[in-house]
Amino acid sequence: MASFNLAVIKGDGIGPEIVDEALKVLEAIGEKYDHKFNFTEVAAGGCAIDCCGQCLPKETVDICKASDSVILGAVGGPKWDNVPGDQRPERALLGLRENLGLYANLRPAIIHNALSDASPIKKEIVGDSLDILIVRELTGGIYFGDRGYRDGKYGTEAYDTEAYSEMEIRRIAKVAFEAAMSRDKRLTSVDKANVLESSRFWRKTIIDMAKEYPEVTLDHMYVDNAAMQLVRNPKHFDVIVTSNIFGDILSDEASQITGSIGMLPSASIGEGAFGMYEPIHGSAPDIAGQNIANPIATILSMAMMLRYTFKLDDEANAIEAAVTKVLNDGFRTADIATKGVQAIGTKQMGELIIKALN
Ligand code: IPM
Ligand code: MG
Repeated sequence: MASFNLAVIKGDGIGPEIVDEALKVLEAIGEKYDHKFNFTEVAAGGCAIDCCGQCLPKETVDICKASDSVILGAVGGPKWDNVPGDQRPERALLGLRENLGLYANLRPAIIHNALSDASPIKKEIVGDSLDILIVRELTGGIYFGDRGYRDGKYGTEAYDTEAYSEMEIRRIAKVAFEAAMSRDKRLTSVDKANVLESSRFWRKTIIDMAKEYPEVTLDHMYVDNAAMQLVRNPKHFDVIVTSNIFGDILSDEASQITGSIGMLPSASIGEGAFGMYEPIHGSAPDIAGQNIANPIATILSMAMMLRYTFKLDDEANAIEAAVTKVLNDGFRTADIATKGVQAIGTKQMGELIIKALN
């Protein structure tokens, strides 16, 4: 029997309730395929500020580092809106990414067949299905660059800096090219090379790396155009690779094209198999604790974890198939329910997915 040690950060808002369902699904997978998943719960985000006086206690980082993989719900909420910027719950996310070396963020934007009506984009544009993978650089760029206040032309000014080294561009590009090789072999690199020096370096480095992947069709797009093409012709995209901040923005846009942000998982990975897996959506404090949040994004994040970190393809496929079955059977949480459909709760959705597994 294989045994896996997982650090679990339930976080704030709906985090705890959606993670609970995901852990139950993992346990069901463990029973079915004879694996043991050991969970160690650690604090990060707003709840960590409340319990331990800081958003990312050292103990949390240490336990995450010592585990095989990390599961995260969501962090943040209005309760901590007045906390100083460098101590906000969201800082915990950045700290985790940096300390755990998670430089690549994989964000699939997929339209499930059963939900093809959910997209706000016209059917003739989006079709019956959509499958885009955004590969976002996660530990560099303006999120981590030099920042501060200084005397400027018009008095005191605040600044942030975008910088990328060749090493950082190469390692994220490698993840993206390899992802493209396992998919439709099309890669779009998004930058702002008409204006930014860091983007020109980005583009030059990507072009150089493309020589190693002759089978991949590579194109380049300015970020403003990419934002437009995502709604005008989303089928253009297979894999997108881009910087930290552009990836942040475009992945939110792509998720909305699917019409169901409550469905989208994500993986943050670095060197080796270790990763952090979390839903794309936030902590949704307005619906927390009411058993109405959609646990599917977190459950699908478990499938990503099984596939990428543990190389358990059958188990990952089983989770995805179970989710598809439950959707095909017509069950919906409130966020994806169409008019006239009786929505089910968080727990029921979890139970139905487990039932479909067996
Ligand atoms: C995301 C979020 C985070 C980010 C915030 C909460 C720091 O928007 O994961 O996309 O900007 O990376
Ligand atoms: Mg974001």
